[in-house]
Amino acid sequence: MAKRKRRPAPPPPPSPPVRPGLVGPLRTVPSGIPRPDYALTGVPASRGARAIRTESEIAAMRVAGRVAAEALVEVGRHVRPGITTDELDRIGHEAMVAAGAYPSTLNYRGYPKSLCTSVNEVICHGIPDSRKLADGDIVNVDVTAFIEGVHGDTSCTFLVGDVDERSAQLVEDTRQAMHAGISVVRPEARIYEIGRAIESVAVPLGHSVVREFIGHGIGDEFHTSLQIPHYYDPRNDTVLLPGMTFTIEPMINLGSHKLEMWEDNWTVVTRDLQRSAQFEHTVLVTEEGHELLTVPADGVPAEVRFAGERMGLTPAD
Ligand code: MF3
Ligand code: CO
Ligand code: CO
Repeated sequence: MAKRKRRPAPPPPPSPPVRPGLVGPLRTVPSGIPRPDYALTGVPASRGARAIRTESEIAAMRVAGRVAAEALVEVGRHVRPGITTDELDRIGHEAMVAAGAYPSTLNYRGYPKSLCTSVNEVICHGIPDSRKLADGDIVNVDVTAFIEGVHGDTSCTFLVGDVDERSAQLVEDTRQAMHAGISVVRPEARIYEIGRAIESVAVPLGHSVVREFIGHGIGDEFHTSLQIPHYYDPRNDTVLLPGMTFTIEPMINLGSHKLEMWEDNWTVVTRDLQRSAQFEHTVLVTEEGHELLTVPADGVPAEVRFAGERMGLTPAD
């Protein structure tokens, strides 16, 4: 048997494991706001494998992307020790509703909240609850908005108070890995180039890349059949074409890529309880290359706006 290269085990995590809190009642959306097809039943209808968006859909996706990105910034402004993740959910919910959007995750396959909050070793799909953020936590907030018939999906990992150097570095490395993946998006590129670029940043730094959760086509459906792995697999040789829209959302771990699911059937955690970070943008393939769709009107997404905090600087407001 060939020898496997083993990574040295990382030091123990800097905080005790996250425990589930209490999940509050369902939030309501005003009846005047148009809903996706699954809002009542929880079951999304499949509309087939159409991967290229029309001009009018692209215009709508710029709106959905902007609303999601602005809600994410609004939530980010409130991240601090002592706030509950349910309170972050309320802030994101209200920001989307005020913009005339439906929070896409609400009742999506039965998911109970308006965004996902994934703390420390939670990889993704953490459910906002009564747990208070603690000094030293990291928290990914993942916001998806549905408006004008389409979805925009974006996330950012925030630092809570004073975060240890290793965790802060993981967060910054993950942001860089996402951008490495985005940077190769252009017509005629192959999907595997995205995962290859992400791994080329994350793996030499000793991190691992989550395999079970991947980027996805997005448009009038939250998740289309288009798959965007964040690791290199030469079999993913689909050619990118102008008008395709999908997410790039790498989840990068300090320890092993192996994961487990909580009994709530949503919360995904690392098996070794080492921390995991994630960033996400919705991307359009253009004739020239690509365009980020999940950008606020002022042009500054959460991952840029709160970069100073990740480097230990004080935010402007
Ligand atoms: N926003 C997540 C993604 O990036 C999906 C959340 S689906 C939910 O694809 F049901 F968990 F909310
Ligand atoms: Co997504
Ligand atoms: Co998302």
